[in-house]
This record gives sequence, structure tokens and C-alpha cells, in this order.
Amino acid sequence: MLRLDGACGPPGSIVPKPGAGPVMDLSDEELDVVRSSFREIAIDPRASAGLFYDRLFELEPELRRMFPPDMEQQGAKMMSMLGAIVARIHDHAALLPMVGDLARRHAGYGALPAHYARVGEALLWTLEQRLGARCTEGVRDAWRKAYAGLAAAMTAAAARAA
Ligand code: HEM
Repeated sequence: MLRLDGACGPPGSIVPKPGAGPVMDLSDEELDVVRSSFREIAIDPRASAGLFYDRLFELEPELRRMFPPDMEQQGAKMMSMLGAIVARIHDHAALLPMVGDLARRHAGYGALPAHYARVGEALLWTLEQRLGARCTEGVRDAWRKAYAGLAAAMTAAAARAA
């Protein structure tokens, strides 16, 4: 089981509340669900990243200017980082330093806690688009938990570095 600092928002929410207690506490079944659904969307990383960023910029148009004009490479980096995170999702000791570094870089890009919530929404939407009927409530719940833990750990690490 993996525990990260931070806590979930209200039920069903993926808005992180940093510093409010341990959050990512996925069962073995939930870990399997996150891994297998990620494998599915990573078969075509370009398509998944395209959907993800299109949705993100639709939800929060002002984020577009923070990114480079050509999103091809950014999409590949994002999917590869998500893959690295998912590969370590059961391993707290390996995951936290990596996520802490990522968070500190993101503080430099100007990422704010509210942005993490938008990224979470865009990610869940992408899973729904790519998995279709296979994106069951169980899949969505496992990802909500995993992403809430990731976002809480990142916002907490960024706040510590500030
Ligand atoms: C929690 C999930 C997130 C993951 C896994 C992720 C992943 C990445 C990766 C791998 C990069 C490439 C550069 C690097 O590694 O530092 C990157 C860049 C970037 N991300 Fe994120 N990110 C996340 C959340 C966010 C959020 C919430 C924002 C807020 C706006 C954001 C904005 C950016 C920006 C502006 C860049 C730099 C683009 C550039 O100038 O090249 N990301 N992200």
C-alpha cells in the first residue's frame, strides 16, 4: 500500500488539499486497475496526449500560453512521466523523490494547486474517451484516488520548496 502526504477533497472530488493527512491508499486491485488502464491509453500516447491537452486548454484556456506552441514533444514527455509514475505507484520510496523533483520544476512553470485539479479533470476525461465502456466507476475511482495522491504530494512538495 502506498501513502502520500495530503488528503482528498470532498467525496468524488479530485481537488487536492495538501498537508491534511495521508491520501493515496490504493488496494492491490485499484493498483492493478490503474496500471492496466494506463497501459491501454499508452498504446497510442500521441492520441491520448492530444486529447488530454485539448481538454485541458478547453477547461482552462489561459493555461495554453504556459506551454510551447508545438505540443508534440510535451505530450510525449507527459505520457512518459505518467508511465514512470504508474510504474512506481506501489513504491513510495521510489515515487516521492521523483514526484518532488517534478513538483519543484512545475512551481517554476507557474503551476498552482487549482491547475492540478484541472489537470486531474482532463486526465479522467481522457481515460473516459480512450477506454469508452471499459472506463467503469471502479476505474474512475481508482484514478481519482491515485491522482488526488499525486497532486497532493506535488502541491505539498512545491509549497515546501517555496
Ligand atoms: C500532476 C500531473 C502532471 C504531470 C505528470 C506533468 C508532467 C510534465 C512533464 C513530464 C513535463 C516536461 C518537463 C518536466 O519534466 O519538468 C511537464 C511540463 C510542463 N507542465 Fe506539467 N505535469 C503535471 C501537471 C501540470 C500542471 C498542474 C501544470 C499547470 C499548469 C503543468 C504545466 C506544465 C508546463 C507549463 C510545462 C512546461 C512546458 C514547457 O515550457 O516546455 N503541468 N509536465
